[in-house]
Amino acid sequence: MDFLEINLTHNQLAKSLPRSSYTDSKIFEKERHSLFRSLPIMASPSCALQNTGNYTVTETSLESVITIRDKDDTIKAMANTCRHRGKRLLEKKAFDEKSKIKSLKSIVCPYHAWKYDLNGDLVLARGDDSVISKGLCLRKLKVQETGGLTFYHGNNENFPHLNELNKVLGAFSLEEGKISATKTYKVKANWKLWTENFLECWHCASSHPELGENKGFIHQFENGREDLYMNDDITWREKGLKLGWEAPEEVDFLSDNEMFYFHMALPLKEGNLTGSKTGERLGPALGKAEGIEGGAIFGCMGPFLFYLAYADYVVLFCVRPVNINETDIEVFWVTSKEFNKTKEELTWLWDTTLQQDIKLVEETQKGVSSLYYTPGPFQADEYRTQAFTVWWKNWHQKNKF
Ligand code: FES
Ligand SMILES: [Fe+2]
Repeated sequence: MDFLEINLTHNQLAKSLPRSSYTDSKIFEKERHSLFRSLPIMASPSCALQNTGNYTVTETSLESVITIRDKDDTIKAMANTCRHRGKRLLEKKAFDEKSKIKSLKSIVCPYHAWKYDLNGDLVLARGDDSVISKGLCLRKLKVQETGGLTFYHGNNENFPHLNELNKVLGAFSLEEGKISATKTYKVKANWKLWTENFLECWHCASSHPELGENKGFIHQFENGREDLYMNDDITWREKGLKLGWEAPEEVDFLSDNEMFYFHMALPLKEGNLTGSKTGERLGPALGKAEGIEGGAIFGCMGPFLFYLAYADYVVLFCVRPVNINETDIEVFWVTSKEFNKTKEELTWLWDTTLQQDIKLVEETQKGVSSLYYTPGPFQADEYRTQAFTVWWKNWHQKNKF
């Protein structure tokens, strides 16, 4: 029995994870082989893949995956690894609204020019081309589109929970929007520390002053004024109903052996219509989301995607593990096509908040790496973070190799 297993046995329910889960490369390798390879990864909002040949490259956990719209109008996902000698085929490109979304007719390897069609099948091989008739193709992954987002995964079956996003984000019609900003944040910390941090807002009152100004509930809860929160919540929902928007039924952390998710709708501080510096709207409402103005939906789908939906933009936070103590956070801001404010205005609130979170999480990585660290007790408001650690411990125990 190794150190981690001893800790799992004795601290199954109430304490943070042991040091090795954040620092041991063997744990990362194990996560890479089963957890990262099977769970759904959000590649991009589907609006970036509208036309035949539009593609994105997603890099996470030492893998690179191409997601592309095929000639039959379906989206395909395949490993970005040539079947000749393994070169990466396509480079990750920046999403930039000024540069057109690229469109490919085929995928040609830059090394020895083997050519694949948009379904990943080899169609031209220099040298002995009998390999074509043997059906050589790029390694294919399953694609699931839901809520205007494109996911891929290495599971044989689709994840039914993912369809929950249709209910939660369907009104925003993200597939008809545009990506108005993206940014990848480099975080020197294990991915689980990021996910744990995003699963609780208990730290928000003390660590995120700008966010606290925007979301009234952070201070209302901190000051024991849940009554004020309840009033704001009722007023906001009634206003939304008049405009034809009904908040989706909330789910406060549902998990099974495979996946977990939650989503909640929250009123913003009085007078704030969206997540912006002044609280003013930044652009037209997405889809049919006009009535959510003055509030937002926050949630996650598994350990690698968090989202926050306002009337005029939706921000998607993708957790991309790099190695045991490095994680990329790739963030997409999706707006309506007519949005015309600057990137600085659009990203101000969450760029500011993420910089604060990066500092918190990186310093936690240093702390948990210390020989003086021992798992600590969760507090009531950290129930989702605690539930995640129990989910992860269960996965770790079930996958012994
Ligand atoms: S590695 Fe791709 S063609 Fe040779
Ligand atoms: Fe935070």
